[in-house]
Amino acid sequence: MQSLPALLDARLRAVTGVDPEMRPATKPQFGHFQSNVALRLAKEQKRPPREVAAGIVEQLDVSDLCEPLEIAGPGFINFRIRADVLAQAATAVLEDPHHGVSRTSHPQRVVIDYSAPNVAKQMHVGHLRTTIIGDCFNRILTALGHEVVPQNHIGDWGTQFGMLVEHIIETGTDVAALDLAGAEQLYKDSKGHFDNDPEFATRARARVVKLQGGDEETLAIWRQLITVSLAGFNAAYQRLGVLLTDADLAGESTYNTALPEVAEDLAARGIAVVDDGALVLWVEGFDAPLIIRKSDGGYGYDTTDMAAIRHRVRELRADRIVYVTDVRQSQHFQEIFAAARKAGYLPEDVEAQHVGYGMVLGPDGRPFKTRDGGTVSLMSLLDLAEQEASPEIALAAIKYADLSGAIHKDYVFDAERMVQTTGDTGPYLQYAHARTCQILRKAEAEGIGWGAVVVLEEPAEQALALALSRFGEVVDEVARTLTPHKLCGYLYELAGALSAFYEACPVLRSEGEVRSSRLALVAATRDVLAQGLHLLGIKAPERM
Ligand code: ARG
Repeated sequence: MQSLPALLDARLRAVTGVDPEMRPATKPQFGHFQSNVALRLAKEQKRPPREVAAGIVEQLDVSDLCEPLEIAGPGFINFRIRADVLAQAATAVLEDPHHGVSRTSHPQRVVIDYSAPNVAKQMHVGHLRTTIIGDCFNRILTALGHEVVPQNHIGDWGTQFGMLVEHIIETGTDVAALDLAGAEQLYKDSKGHFDNDPEFATRARARVVKLQGGDEETLAIWRQLITVSLAGFNAAYQRLGVLLTDADLAGESTYNTALPEVAEDLAARGIAVVDDGALVLWVEGFDAPLIIRKSDGGYGYDTTDMAAIRHRVRELRADRIVYVTDVRQSQHFQEIFAAARKAGYLPEDVEAQHVGYGMVLGPDGRPFKTRDGGTVSLMSLLDLAEQEASPEIALAAIKYADLSGAIHKDYVFDAERMVQTTGDTGPYLQYAHARTCQILRKAEAEGIGWGAVVVLEEPAEQALALALSRFGEVVDEVARTLTPHKLCGYLYELAGALSAFYEACPVLRSEGEVRSSRLALVAATRDVLAQGLHLLGIKAPERM
């Protein structure tokens, strides 16, 4: 659905042939929107701007949407949307089960690679970001009618498992009795063992060969490590309220059998070449090649990602693939995409995107670390926020803080600020939503109903209706550009318009048609706030 401003923009563009640069009017007496297009054209044509403006106004037919147009000052064109048109738009949002979010006419299969923690390691703050951001993409694309295929590419393979398994056997550790924190401690212990005891290191390397060779005892311990880690990951997912399930798991080990075949294929077609015993794939414009097969015959992260992208196109039939990781991996993915195009694993009509997120900083503005300088676990971060507020509010605070800035930027984790119910925070939006619920509850208790939005005389009512009418368009844009902060910004604006409306317009204390119309406006705002928060993965409680 095109919003009112988008409709006006399109018509003015058709008449002038240029971008009309429509802006919200700076004062209510200037109407709702203003364009300086006449001023710009006048300069080009060396004509008086007001004359150019008059010519445009004469050709522009927007009488179905606007009051008669006004030319202001040196030649601005002012647009005031008709009250009945705004009322209709707000009513449409209220009556549409999706509140203006319309399903796409081109549904795609979208693979989203997100979360992807590593076995025998706690999820840390970085995994918090990918999990929340990926979950938001999943919700938004699904709401628009796309088919989302989440892929949780957990780190469940690699030489570190040789060291871990060998250490477990030699110390007689009962893995099944561990939790994720215990498994992480085990990882640290075995690393220490590996670094300090060369004979152990030799045995650990032999263990890697056994693991790769499918030795049953080794595999059984490796599987136990995965089970213990998954329990920890799932506890975090549950606590975060994200959509990921075990069905979305596709860890690195999934691609084990495909790796030699991918290497053979790339070598046979001359896309990868042997260099110093290793098989490497050079991509123009990159300083280092992808390592397809190490000189010792092993495979690593690069090969796994080549196999994964091929699988996602061929088997999962992806039309679009989105990867959500730390910004520091952006070179890696750009190189993988380019290599996959070269190899024919990623056809031109399949879009691949890497969304890189910035770091979570401590209140001192430096990378968030524990007191002893270690990485902060995701769980302890949730604990920190829950010291400030209830879980529902703490989670809203964290998710909103994570999503409301441009994704690639770092942000400061300031639990005390994030849980405030004033300012640009998640709890503020939850609170605005709860307030709408409270008003509607009161009305219902008094037996007062509402129908359509009809009377819109107050500028604050009109501004709220206008904001409501833009919801669908904002969600479309966020899905296209993968920029959840725009949805956050929109909801924040809507909550602001709501509170300006409360200030200026009595709702329950008004009467008759005005009251019914204002209640309908409140109901539409409740619906959009609830739906908007849902798309961000944030709960919208009815009472706070
Ligand atoms: N496990 C990796 C990490 O913790 C992220 C994996 C991302 N996905 C991928 N296909 N490489 O950083």
